[in-house]
Amino acid sequence: MYPDDHTPDAANPTPQGPSRRSFLKQTGGLLGVALAPPIASQAEALADKLAPASPVLSGATPMSLNINGQVKSLRLEPRTTLLDALREYLDLTGTKKGCDHGQCGACTVHIDGRRVNSCLTLAVMAQGKQITTIEGLAKGEELHPMQEAFLKHDGFQCGYCTPGQIMSGVACVKEGHATTDDQAREWMSGNICRCGAYPNILAAVRDVAGQSAKG
Ligand code: FES
Ligand code: FES
Repeated sequence: MYPDDHTPDAANPTPQGPSRRSFLKQTGGLLGVALAPPIASQAEALADKLAPASPVLSGATPMSLNINGQVKSLRLEPRTTLLDALREYLDLTGTKKGCDHGQCGACTVHIDGRRVNSCLTLAVMAQGKQITTIEGLAKGEELHPMQEAFLKHDGFQCGYCTPGQIMSGVACVKEGHATTDDQAREWMSGNICRCGAYPNILAAVRDVAGQSAKG
């Protein structure tokens, strides 16, 4: 809106220096070059370079999963979560779907002995690893000590969170994260119980931790 002769540069022109207008023209030109889209051949070359690094996987793909000591072959879309593979394709419905967003712990399973939320794990990523679900915890008729402890301490009401709580509890003890009540509460905090059975769950986990400490 203001004429150029109102600018400080125009009021005190520097004889050999570039005017504000010519400076803007120059920088505008440089910016124009910098922001210009690559010409077609450059764009094609770039696309050719990127294409092999980002293949599109789609459709059912053969994969095999080692679950509870048994290798299962199945065809799944690469986007299938481990949770859906277990429940929908392998009929292992002991692992529960609560939030499906990694926030409740109902879907906890072990992969190579470490607890994971199976709703946040792609089945394809679990290939070649040992997956243990709640169905694989007991040895035949003999319950796992954590399952026994949940029965003994009445650690469940509706039972929906229980498989996840038990899987998490087993790992928590193994990690050495259940040596005090506070520590066990903290390290089990990713497992939500809508019934509020927490005192009994804690008692069960601490009981097993005590048994482990005694050897
Ligand atoms: S269902 Fe996986 S964390 Fe809730
Ligand atoms: S026992 Fe019902 S949600 Fe935990």
